[in-house]
Amino acid sequence: MKIGILGSGLMGGKLGVLFTRAGHDVVFSYARSEQKLKHLALEAKGTARAGTPADAVRDADAVLLAVHWQRIDDVLQLTGDLSGKVMISCSLPMNADDTGLVTGHTSSGAEELAKKLRRAKVVSAFGTVPSEVFFDVFDARRRATRPNMAYCGDDDGAKGVAATLISDVGFEPVDAGPLRIARYLEPFALLMGQLAYEGDGGPEIAYRFERFEKSIAQKRDMR
Ligand SMILES: NC(=O)c1ccc[n+]([C@@H]2O[C@H](COP(=O)([O-])OP(=O)(O)OC[C@H]3O[C@@H](n4cnc5c(N)ncnc54)[C@H](OP(=O)(O)O)[C@@H]3O)[C@@H](O)[C@H]2O)c1
Repeated sequence: MKIGILGSGLMGGKLGVLFTRAGHDVVFSYARSEQKLKHLALEAKGTARAGTPADAVRDADAVLLAVHWQRIDDVLQLTGDLSGKVMISCSLPMNADDTGLVTGHTSSGAEELAKKLRRAKVVSAFGTVPSEVFFDVFDARRRATRPNMAYCGDDDGAKGVAATLISDVGFEPVDAGPLRIARYLEPFALLMGQLAYEGDGGPEIAYRFERFEKSIAQKRDMR
């Protein structure tokens, strides 16, 4: 697939490299320096290249939106028309000074995005896992047991594209249902991030509940 990356930071940069290594044709866009985009394209090898947001979106089979919440309107202005595009979003709503996630029970970042882009096919995916774990999962992707990753959306074709990409990175895709499920997955992302950065087990516990349970059991035994 041709995949356009909008936002080539921790999430977009890592996922773009892994999509390229999985054989996809990736365009990295939207960073503060073009040099960084070129470095990422070199690191990814394959056919990856640097481009503008409009280049990234042109003819793309899937577009990964991986910018901070405050940058969404800015990047969307640069892409041009997104009608009919499969938009995979890992962007989580943040407060005005970008210091905390905003969670709500009646909507989600993904649903708000879908309201902005009524003609695009929005899928929420990748946002519940800290970017640090992606390379490890990719390296272990041929193991019989793969960590699960939930995704949700309202368009079956777009969800099929997201499931392929989740699988290519090394996770077992789990269809969590319609896009409105994102309002429950996004608070879960906050918990996962907190466990990854503040828990003793580091990123590992963020994507494997059985390991999480194991680490709790070990601690209990040690007491
Ligand atoms: N990181 C994670 O583990 C994680 C996990 C789950 C969800 N998410 C979500 O994913 C989204 C992206 O997070 P991230 O950690 O990847 O953020 P990030 O590393 O800060 O990446 C954001 C990208 O946007 C670019 N950018 C920011 N301001 C810009 C500007 N004025 N002009 C052009 N480019 C600009 C940055 O450029 P530079 O490269 O030059 O800085 C960077 O490439 C967020 O909504 C976050 O909540 C992240």
